[in-house]
Amino acid sequence: IKKIAVMTSGGDAPGMNAAIRSVARTCAYYNIECVGIYRGYEGMIEGDFIELTARNVKGIINKGGTVLKSARSKEFRTKEGRQKAYDALKAANVDALVTIGGDGTFTGALIFNQEFNFPVMGIPGTIDNDIFGTSHTLGYDTALNTVVEAIDKIRDTASSHNRLFFVEVMGRDVGHIALNVGVGAGAEEILIPEEDLGLDRLLESLRRSKKSGKSSSIVVVAEGDKIGKNVFELKDYVEENMTEYEVRVSVLGHMQRGGSPSCFDRVLASRMGVKAVESLLEGKSNYMVGLLNDKIDLTPLEQAVKGKSKINEELIRVSDIMTT
Ligand code: F6P
Repeated sequence: IKKIAVMTSGGDAPGMNAAIRSVARTCAYYNIECVGIYRGYEGMIEGDFIELTARNVKGIINKGGTVLKSARSKEFRTKEGRQKAYDALKAANVDALVTIGGDGTFTGALIFNQEFNFPVMGIPGTIDNDIFGTSHTLGYDTALNTVVEAIDKIRDTASSHNRLFFVEVMGRDVGHIALNVGVGAGAEEILIPEEDLGLDRLLESLRRSKKSGKSSSIVVVAEGDKIGKNVFELKDYVEENMTEYEVRVSVLGHMQRGGSPSCFDRVLASRMGVKAVESLLEGKSNYMVGLLNDKIDLTPLEQAVKGKSKINEELIRVSDIMTT
């Protein structure tokens, strides 16, 4: 292997730049070339590449987003699209690919590898932390800190007005962010897709908390929660069924994906980038680099895609105890 390409794809996440920098610098360390691919698979198809050197990735470790941009490509889902991508990589003498992203990104990489026997290595980057084979995806820790800070601020105004707030956080299919920030910010209830609390129990819990003397409350709701109502409908429902609270809604949205990565994410990204390049140089392919028991390890890409990240049951219990 003489040249490795790196790209970011799917939803961006803080720490992606730190991972790009790490891949580029590890390549430089081993005296091989590195190119960055702009806009994920879309840019791969178009041959939109940039040479990455140890020096031109300076000053990005602390930057949110991704300097290589990100996109979701429809064309790469077609055989013709992937053929174009392969041709573009070959024309640029690229021998292997490091792809930073989530499920969709890895599925694309797997198909690409199967069709062209092209060496691929995945680095998990998504704030949702919904990837099997790693305790932490890039961006997750930063997002937790961003959200906790936002909820602390919401609590200030909630308690000044004795209000109940429904705060919606990201997590399309999973409740990792919601559960952790719920515990970290002292939420009254946490609604996650993995557990259906039910509307009756929600009301019951809110009534109990009011009776116990609490004047304000925060309910954290994962966007993918299955309670059957969105946050605005929940507000209406609670206001219709209990008069004890004045209710407000706050949807945190995409601010959760931005910002300077935490130290944890920068270090994780640096470790993952080194492991990804070194594994490719050892002749390995079709793996995802992950953090398992504080060690950087490899999981077959196929397992990473098929497996399910598990919610931390212990945290659910801790949260229950903390709200007594
Ligand atoms: O990055 C993951 C995620 O934030 C999900 O929680 C969310 O549903 C989704 O991305 C939204 O992404 P976009 O607006 O880019 O489609």
